[in-house]
Amino acid sequence: MISGADSNRILNAIEASSNWGSELRAEAMSLISKLPGYSWSGIYRLEGATLELDEFVGERTDHTHIPVGRGVCGAAVAENANQVVNDVRELDNYLSCSIKTKSEIVVLVKNEEGSILGQIDIDGHEVGAFDRSDEHFLESVGEFLAIRW
Ligand code: SME
Repeated sequence: MISGADSNRILNAIEASSNWGSELRAEAMSLISKLPGYSWSGIYRLEGATLELDEFVGERTDHTHIPVGRGVCGAAVAENANQVVNDVRELDNYLSCSIKTKSEIVVLVKNEEGSILGQIDIDGHEVGAFDRSDEHFLESVGEFLAIRW
């Protein structure tokens, strides 16, 4: 759950930024990572049939290359659908980055033609940390990032 004030503040900052590409993505992850409940904030770029870890803020992860279809991240691409997982312990197809993670949201980043450029992946330490407000916010972040990908 993100407040309207936090959402507006961060979206305004990203829109007003003069950065492009990986610098803009790093700036966005830095801003997002300070939100309450956002314990790991990262971006994966889709390169062919593999998701490649891009800019992130949080613990280092072993999952730097994720094939499409694997884990929550790979499922988002395979299904062409955002993923909001209330409790990752209930999933079979889950790639654990931290034993502290209880919930996760993955929102696809697409270009104007609808092709998937990558995704924003957020982990939370609480069960049910993310809802439709976070999905909507991250979709908006993704739209700004896609323009200057
Ligand atoms: N949990 C993800 C892998 C990425 S880490 O959360 C950073 C997944 O199941 O795809």
